[in-house]
Amino acid sequence: MNILIIGGAGYIGSHVAREFLDQGHTVTVYDNLSSGLEQNLFPEEKFIKGDIMDYPALVQAMKGGFDALVHLAAFKGAGESMVKPEKYSLNNINGTVNIINAAAETGISNIVFSSTAAVYGEPVYLPIDEKHPTNPENYYGFTKLEIEGTLRWYDKLKGIKFASLRYFNAAGYDVKGRITGLERNPANLIPVIMEAACGMRPEVQVFGSDYDTPDGTGVRDYIHVNDLAVGHAAALDYIAKNGKSIIVNLGSETGLSVMEIIEAARKISGKPIPVKITGRRPGDPAKLTASSQLARELLGWKAQHSDLDTLISTSWGVYKNQGKA
Ligand code: WQD
Repeated sequence: MNILIIGGAGYIGSHVAREFLDQGHTVTVYDNLSSGLEQNLFPEEKFIKGDIMDYPALVQAMKGGFDALVHLAAFKGAGESMVKPEKYSLNNINGTVNIINAAAETGISNIVFSSTAAVYGEPVYLPIDEKHPTNPENYYGFTKLEIEGTLRWYDKLKGIKFASLRYFNAAGYDVKGRITGLERNPANLIPVIMEAACGMRPEVQVFGSDYDTPDGTGVRDYIHVNDLAVGHAAALDYIAKNGKSIIVNLGSETGLSVMEIIEAARKISGKPIPVKITGRRPGDPAKLTASSQLARELLGWKAQHSDLDTLISTSWGVYKNQGKA
């Protein structure tokens, strides 16, 4: 297939682009490089530098005879979205509406959309399946839920088929070492640990050690970015073959605690990784884990690289060469 990947120079987008290329598809990346990196582009793909707020540029880019588009261009700071909602409404909502309208205008009828487990909010039960109530705790999660609603309407009204992929905690780097771009100013746990391991920051702050979890620190479902990438390809295959839209979780179905991850990182890197226990971060649930049964049933998808060792060793493989390790 001929595929347009919007946000394909970013951390997840570059792994998704790599997977589609590996599977023999033709890929064009559209990215404004605001957080994406030129370093994450591959020689086999065409690159268009453009912004999702620029409707005419999007329409122009989409005239390339594409069978599908994958949309991963968004701001993803859950905390930031609570203090700068304007940034998130404009880019994540209006920008995505531009993409969907441009797809309708140019006849692209398959869309794979990056959604998030943040649409669920505070868990009512675990593991979280797709029937779990959606009640986002942050504005970021709301922007993704809004777009899922718009996609449902455009399916009905315009015949656009979509796969909305609700990612849990994306982590790790390409197991074959082909992607090496570092995220700038990361706030997510694993890159923060990596920065501490290689001396780019003094310590890791652990946000709470008094949760009702085995070691008192927060438990999350970390999904390796190569697994996420395979999920995108499987989801596109499904909607293109079956002509049906889907909303599915992509998670490892395994819970890992903050301290377990820090311990593994100490072992793998051989670095001390200083830790400071601080207070809980507002809005953080004690534990989040996914049910990915639906992805298994519909897509034949299952996490393959999301064990703790692979998550950390692939990340360390990238950071150890770039920081002050
Ligand atoms: C993981 C765990 C923290 C940093 C966020 C978004 C969510 C999704 C994924 C995009 C928690 C703890 C973290 C640190 C810490 N994003 N932690 N010290 O909050 O589960 O999810 O990213 O779709 O929408 O909310 O991920 O990596 O920030 O935190 O102790 O410096 O690590 O409390 O238990 P989170 P995270």
